[in-house]
Amino acid sequence: MSLHDKLVDAAESLFVATHPAVLEKLKGIEGPTPTFPAGTLLDFVGKKPWDVLLGYAETHGAMVLLWALGDPVIVPTAPALTEAVLVSRVGDFYKKSPVRALTPLLTEVEPFLANLPEWQRIVAASLFRLPGFDAWVAAQAPVLADSARHAFSALPEGQTHDALQAVRRAAFDAFSHMAVGRALDDDAWERFQRMAAEGDERMSAPVLLSEESFDLGFRVARSGFWRVFLDAIADARAHDDPARVDALAFALRAGTTLSDDQLAAALANLYFSGLFSSSSALLSALYHLTEDRPLRDALAAELRAAVTGGFTAEALASVPTLERVIRESLRLHPPVPIYMRNSAADREVELGGHLLPPDTTIYLSNYAVHRNSAYWSDPHTFLPSRWDAATLAANPYGSGRFWPFGRGPRACIGQEVALVFLRATLAVAVLEHALEVGKGQPYEGKAFFACMSAEGLGLTVRT
Ligand code: HEM
Repeated sequence: MSLHDKLVDAAESLFVATHPAVLEKLKGIEGPTPTFPAGTLLDFVGKKPWDVLLGYAETHGAMVLLWALGDPVIVPTAPALTEAVLVSRVGDFYKKSPVRALTPLLTEVEPFLANLPEWQRIVAASLFRLPGFDAWVAAQAPVLADSARHAFSALPEGQTHDALQAVRRAAFDAFSHMAVGRALDDDAWERFQRMAAEGDERMSAPVLLSEESFDLGFRVARSGFWRVFLDAIADARAHDDPARVDALAFALRAGTTLSDDQLAAALANLYFSGLFSSSSALLSALYHLTEDRPLRDALAAELRAAVTGGFTAEALASVPTLERVIRESLRLHPPVPIYMRNSAADREVELGGHLLPPDTTIYLSNYAVHRNSAYWSDPHTFLPSRWDAATLAANPYGSGRFWPFGRGPRACIGQEVALVFLRATLAVAVLEHALEVGKGQPYEGKAFFACMSAEGLGLTVRT
């Protein structure tokens, strides 16, 4: 036996000797062998976490046990298990991470961070539950198309741009039109990025000292960013314009019960809850449309026929190839590839026939399901044609094998906003600008702000 093997053996034995009770309790759940002191954390070093979880799921099956130092972590991928955690037994599993990390960015009006019973109250008072919300989302389609048109036209032709930055900036403009009815200036964009960088850092930090951030630059950026929305609210209250269809005008018209401070925060929160994920999906779809010219041509032909009466939500939702491209992009590159729950902190909770110790961490990875050969054939290949009528019927959003927006009552509340954004922006990109993203480059997802997006791709634009 080599020295290395002896050391590994000793580290494995030491782990068993130091965690006898919890190992006994979780006996029978498969997983990689932990070593002292890191548990199985070393498996993640230098690798993409979502690929590690996929590897575990393929090797060890539907419910995997990992160890973060001495703490157990469960990775359920089987539809029945994610259904239990996210849909039917939500009272047994709660959101712990990333509440502290995101608290200085998102405020008390944000559903994302809340747990029952506050969550119900917050959702009920949110923009998403105002009467007429569905019609409001639909009304965004032409607005988002116009915003994309403007953003793509502003990119100089004949140059290679950083695709991720260009797409995020286009999304920032689109979200601004959606939130307050106009594009915001570069200062707002800088402040938003500064805040997001802080959020990203806090979400990746092993230990957080405080729910508030001590960083002065962040605090200045945050008050400047929120100020934009407070000013916009004061302005909208002073000059009522019935033609406006943005979220601010809609909220005031629909009689929001939020105070002005809360409404400003709710508008600012829209960017943090949806911009990075929506940009990630847009980028991956553009990448695959660049790779597959016949697919893009077929999509362009369908779109051209569909939008003769304008870029309405209804027209855009009626384009089959567009839906297949969006679904397949979200399957192959789910923008939020891992998120978490904890089992109830005050009791043991059953999952998959095992009793979990109180407060056990659960990693939920749609990536480990979407790319799993147990659930999808040829899982790593971009194949929009797989979304035939039978596949569509068997795998709606939020079902056991396809949940890019999560599952159950806490699934993405902005799903329809994201889909309208993707349809409108992709339609403009394909029909009017022939954007090319990452031609000949590999697609390498990297994590930022809990989202997986490809960095380093080039973008060129032809009008
Ligand atoms: C492609 C784009 C998007 C993806 C893939 C996505 C994904 C997700 C996922 C997976 C969750 C569940 C998180 C959990 O259960 O812990 C979630 C929640 C949420 N999303 Fe999205 N999202 C997207 C766009 C948006 C947009 C555009 C908005 C806002 C307009 C938004 C707002 C939210 C909010 C507020 C929640 C929390 C809901 C709750 O806890 O009740 N998302 N999203």
